[in-house]
Amino acid sequence: MIPLHHSVEFQHHLWLDVLPTARTIVDMTCGNGHDTVYLLSHCHKNSHIYAIDIQEEALRRTKEKLLKELPQTIKQVDFILGSHDRVLESLPVSTIDVMVGNLGYLPNADHDIMTQSISTIRALSKGLAKLSVNGLCTIVAYPGTETGRKEAEDLEEYIASMNQKEFHCSMWRPLNQANHPPILYIIRRR
Ligand SMILES: C[S@@+](CC[C@H](N)C(=O)[O-])C[C@H]1O[C@@H](n2cnc3c(N)ncnc32)[C@H](O)[C@@H]1O
Repeated sequence: MIPLHHSVEFQHHLWLDVLPTARTIVDMTCGNGHDTVYLLSHCHKNSHIYAIDIQEEALRRTKEKLLKELPQTIKQVDFILGSHDRVLESLPVSTIDVMVGNLGYLPNADHDIMTQSISTIRALSKGLAKLSVNGLCTIVAYPGTETGRKEAEDLEEYIASMNQKEFHCSMWRPLNQANHPPILYIIRRR
């Protein structure tokens, strides 16, 4: 059954639609590694994942989770330390088939290190410029904090302004949940 209560789980069903044929995958914020490991466990064995995070600790946690749960896939991953806007500027790929970003901060770490609208939008624009035809980008934003609310608003404005002839853009969010549930933004290149 498709989970209709949380953006993070809802997006998996969109990923499953494209992962079998995706070859280049970008996780803009690998954090604790949940998304990277999910992507790896459902993608083609010839695909490659770039797992990016601004914190060394996030890369360490992601690598540890991967080695524990899917050690045979470690060669399919490049772990890249840096801010996603900078990293995406120079990523050595010509196309990206799937790009995901789970925004906010790393749980059980410094909550002041969180994604910010300017760099998130810059990273998106760099990545989307390389998104393949029918390629998918999903972004989960957390409007429960002041920074997160601003980031979601700025992101929504940016995504809504994208050329309709180039991209299908939409959003999904639970409507009757307390405490500002995460919002899912969905972009597909036409
Ligand atoms: C909610 S966590 C990501 C969760 C992760 N996708 C997972 O499945 O466990 C958000 C992550 O964004 C990272 N982050 C914050 N600003 C960033 C930036 N400018 N570039 C790359 N990563 C950033 C944080 O370090 C944190 O690990």
